[in-house]
Amino acid sequence: MGDKGLFFKKKKQIETTVLPKHIAIIMDGNGRWAKKRSLPRSAGHAAGSKTFKTIARYCNKIGIKYLTVYAFSTENWKRPKSEVDNIMNILRDYLKDTDNFKGENIRLEFIGDRTPLAEDIKELMLKAEADSADATGLHLNIALNYGGRDEIVHAVKRIVSEGLGPEDITEQAISDRLYTAGQPDPDFIIRPSGEYRLSNYLIWQSAYAEYWFSDILWPDFKPEDLDKALSDFSRRNRRFGGVEDNK
Ligand code: FPP
Repeated sequence: MGDKGLFFKKKKQIETTVLPKHIAIIMDGNGRWAKKRSLPRSAGHAAGSKTFKTIARYCNKIGIKYLTVYAFSTENWKRPKSEVDNIMNILRDYLKDTDNFKGENIRLEFIGDRTPLAEDIKELMLKAEADSADATGLHLNIALNYGGRDEIVHAVKRIVSEGLGPEDITEQAISDRLYTAGQPDPDFIIRPSGEYRLSNYLIWQSAYAEYWFSDILWPDFKPEDLDKALSDFSRRNRRFGGVEDNK
């Protein structure tokens, strides 16, 4: 083997895995998963919720620092009331069982406009956030009644009400008033179920993110699928020993 071959071999050996700092997932395909099995849509959401717990736990285990999941969008109110109620009930059950996050050392936070949510859900959300505030593991954001445009409108309203002048309006000033203020922007966005859209998800924060799409329906999504996505991410962000970032 010549010098050049050895050089490349050595380089490959010291290649390190690069984990994203912040993964954002659009949990899509619950309805189609249920339909394929002639089950009601509620069965799809129940299965999707199981996958959500598994993936959150797995992210925590492998050392991902931030995960944001899209649980309910500002547009999802257009669904039949029974389906909206079903998703809210899944959320209630998740929050009542504190082993889901406290027991996992997961810090829970909600992003989105809480105003129209039921009072008991708002209370459960606040309690879960307070109870898990000291957790040192995964920071898990659940996007609930969340819309990216709505979030930006909300930030602009805050800027106006705080009396900021044109010279104070910077990208940072806007980032600081988003629901994700203080968190790193998502650097990896995953959308299963064969759709290739962002659907108003984290539209400001995703400006520089890498994207990963797959045909897998969310309830079928496994930790092994996340591994595959992470390996793609790592290849796209290949770093060699001592080099922080190749971009
Ligand atoms: C999109 O699939 C999924 C949703 C709108 C709901 C996602 C909610 C969960 C997985 C439960 C989350 C629970 C917690 C505790 C965070 P879809 O219904 O649009 O699927 P389809 O496109 O196949 O119809």
